[in-house]
Amino acid sequence: TFPEFVTVKEVGPRDGLQNEKQQVATQDKINWINMLSKSGLSSVEVSSFVHPKWIPQLKDAKDVVTKIYRKPGTTYATLVPNAKGLKAALETDIDEVAVFMSASESHNMKNINKSIEQSYPIFKEVVQEAKDHGKRVRGYVSTVFGCPYEGAVAPHQVLKVSQRLLDIGVDELSLGDTIGVANPKQVDQFLSTIKNDLDVNQIAMHFHNTYGMALANVLVSLQHGLTIFDSSLGGLGGCPYAKGASGNLATDDLVHMLHQMGIQTGIEEEKLNQAAEYIQKILGKELPSHHMQIANRM
Ligand code: HMG
Ligand code: MG
Repeated sequence: TFPEFVTVKEVGPRDGLQNEKQQVATQDKINWINMLSKSGLSSVEVSSFVHPKWIPQLKDAKDVVTKIYRKPGTTYATLVPNAKGLKAALETDIDEVAVFMSASESHNMKNINKSIEQSYPIFKEVVQEAKDHGKRVRGYVSTVFGCPYEGAVAPHQVLKVSQRLLDIGVDELSLGDTIGVANPKQVDQFLSTIKNDLDVNQIAMHFHNTYGMALANVLVSLQHGLTIFDSSLGGLGGCPYAKGASGNLATDDLVHMLHQMGIQTGIEEEKLNQAAEYIQKILGKELPSHHMQIANRM
């Protein structure tokens, strides 16, 4: 059986844009995010308070957060890697912050310049302070199904990292197939394993579509009772510290599949598609989602 309603969390303005070399103007980002809000999405990750040297595209995080239209009922989120990032985030009235780490040691080091063990005390402080300020906190776990540097990642390693993040106080986990190597059987076995120890209502799945298996992996996750999925409009994105990571699961394709299956999302496809066309035009290149490939041929 399938759920009646699925929550789709848009990460395009952060995960989608962070890898784009060509700087997108702040006002264009704001226009795009406003279109995303109006499509009915209930959660939009809008930027990152990270070091601008590491992610130059998102150096205007504060401007973006303070100038977007805030649709009532919609949760706006940003990444924060440490206390300095949180401090900047708290100067805005962002609803949610997200800490992020990897299930594999080498990717964690490449991405945030810390070992996994060194990351916990930093996050503990960040999460505590964020909660003291009434923020919702998300914890990303990357390289859940494979690491670009280490190869296979064991489910028990993901479980260990996830449980530490929950102990620290994150409200929700987002489990990421950062390089898009997961296959449906692997997802099935993984979810069967972790369901014994984690509450599926606290887990979002974050798939990438490198080998075209993201929607198949969503299907398996739905069958396991998961109802929260991250995606990026048009299939934009990839991690700059994960070589070979291609686009995220495309929001337009995900929402289309869910609606075709009779599963509600609260999102208006037509408005979502207009937002995809907008950002495609801004970036000046064809977006990889199936929906945009079809739209571009018409
Ligand atoms: P570091 O160099 O180790 O930081 O970087 P540090 O604490 O040693 O400080 C060095 C300098 O950076 C200092 O400045 C700090 O003030 C400054 P200086 O004294 O030299 O002038 N600094 C900062 N500046 C702005 N914002 C901050 C900040 N922190 C320190 N927050 C750091 C450590 C974490 C900052 C760096 O490694 C970084 O910014 N990393 C971010 C990388 C990133 O954003 N990667 C992409 C995320 S995507 C992902 O992880 C996967 C995900 O999408 C899920 C999936 O797809 O699977 C979530
Ligand atoms: Mg991603």
